[in-house]
Amino acid sequence: MTQELAPDVHDRSAGRPGEGTGGAGWWRSAVIYQVYVRSFADGNGDGIGDLPGARARLPYLKGLGVDAVWLTPFYASPQADGGYDVADYRAVDPMFGTLTDADDLVRDAHALGLRVIVDLVPNHCSDQHEWFKQALREGPGSPLRERFHFRPGKGAHGELPPNDWNSLFGGPAWTRVTDPDGAQEEWYLHLFAPEQPDFNWEHPAVRDEFRSILRFWLDLGIDGFRVDVAHGLVKAAGLPDIGRNEEMGLLNTQELPFFDQDGVHEIYRDWRRILDEYPGVGVPPAGGWGRIAVAEAWTPTLERSARYLRPDELHQAFNFEYVMAGWDAAGLRAVIDETLRAMAPVGAPATWVLSNHDVVRHPTRYGGGERGLRRARAAALLMLALPGSTYLYQGEELGLPEVTDLPDEVRQDPSFFRDNGQEGLRDGCRVPLPWSGDRPPYGFGPGDSWLPQPPEWKDLSVEVETGNPASTLELYRAALRLRRELPGLGDGSLSWLDSPEGVLSFARPGFVCTVNLLGHAVELPVPGRPVLASEPVAVEGEMVRVPADSCVWWAV
Ligand code: NOJ
Ligand code: CA
Repeated sequence: MTQELAPDVHDRSAGRPGEGTGGAGWWRSAVIYQVYVRSFADGNGDGIGDLPGARARLPYLKGLGVDAVWLTPFYASPQADGGYDVADYRAVDPMFGTLTDADDLVRDAHALGLRVIVDLVPNHCSDQHEWFKQALREGPGSPLRERFHFRPGKGAHGELPPNDWNSLFGGPAWTRVTDPDGAQEEWYLHLFAPEQPDFNWEHPAVRDEFRSILRFWLDLGIDGFRVDVAHGLVKAAGLPDIGRNEEMGLLNTQELPFFDQDGVHEIYRDWRRILDEYPGVGVPPAGGWGRIAVAEAWTPTLERSARYLRPDELHQAFNFEYVMAGWDAAGLRAVIDETLRAMAPVGAPATWVLSNHDVVRHPTRYGGGERGLRRARAAALLMLALPGSTYLYQGEELGLPEVTDLPDEVRQDPSFFRDNGQEGLRDGCRVPLPWSGDRPPYGFGPGDSWLPQPPEWKDLSVEVETGNPASTLELYRAALRLRRELPGLGDGSLSWLDSPEGVLSFARPGFVCTVNLLGHAVELPVPGRPVLASEPVAVEGEMVRVPADSCVWWAV
């Protein structure tokens, strides 16, 4: 018995600049590699990854076989939240290089046939942004304060926050301003750290400014934006209390007066018109097919996420339900089905992701050690066989685990300092990559890296894994090569095939994927010719023994 899940939209040839969602486009099948710039490659030896370092490693990404690169924020920033606190949206932080370096990186990427997506942070800026500094200087009642959310406090002396909202990094979402004479005055809203004041998106100047920022980077030639906190820009009118004192947590999908408000969609329709004005960058061999935006939108349901992807809004949204699914056949199948069902009505491609710079790396989530890595390798093959587009997080192709024993003194995650129970949640997945050599910083750069790398990573470097057919890196390279070669992969549909409990099996045109999520091997009928497997498989006549926690790709 099989089950058809989504219409086949496998035509990759018909894309045109400005075309609405639902047709072809490079992004519908793309594998997009997330470069966490600080931790990817250090070009100048200060221990911090930068744009020249990333540029020098573009050939590695081309060789890996990805289609596009997403760069995390490299803008001028005091780095209170790893660059998600932007002081100047049109400037590169000297820590990361110069605007010329950004331009050179984009040109080199295009010459290699890679697209470049940059991070856009519209919900909040840095407290060092000129607008905010000036708003503080000009005092209560000044028009510049209207570009943020300033409010008098509650209580007899304004000593209580204006409402009961908590920051996603812990503590109240409001900070009280102290004026130059030491007197306490208004409060301002920050859903994240106090150094990240929220913009007031009801203000026309904010909307104009972001239109201009979009154009600035589109004019430079970038292929798209990853929209940070895309669900947060518009707040419920009057900033109403939630009515309960709730710890928020960064990965939040509750219904809240500051998330997923209907008003955000008007902003994305506006942005889509701008994106569509820009022709695609001519990238060989496939030609350019327009600029895209991908939403970081934590919403209560996949249906709510799909609303960001209506034909006149954004192109993709991260599939956080998939990140959150564990190593469990029924759970994964349910998320896959729900995703394809939710995306079909809006004509958007599904996206899949296992890790990013905000979550524990998946080999560790899947149990760690050898078993975690086995599962991670199988999970990668499963994900790359699903219909749609895929996001990879730097280092997952090496099988890197989370670093769980970083000393407190090196931690930088603001949630660690705000003490809300997610201690160090995000430093352990941001440890700089091992490229080569047997001692830290393992070719990351000429100097000590900003976070220390574990001694075991000498066995997980790009150099060590290259050419070793058993390595995770060669598994990813082979999978990405086959993904390009086999016409049934990428955008399209899938049909589930009958399989024993704990095993997932599905067909795509000319292709079958089998995943055994059980802790023991299973005997199955051979569906075709094995083309790739996350563990060695033994085919005996009509039957195959699929090992525990493994995935096999078949050509049929
Ligand atoms: C989501 C980003 O991925 C995360 O790293 C950041 O802290 C928050 N948004 C706030 O910008
Ligand atoms: Ca550097």
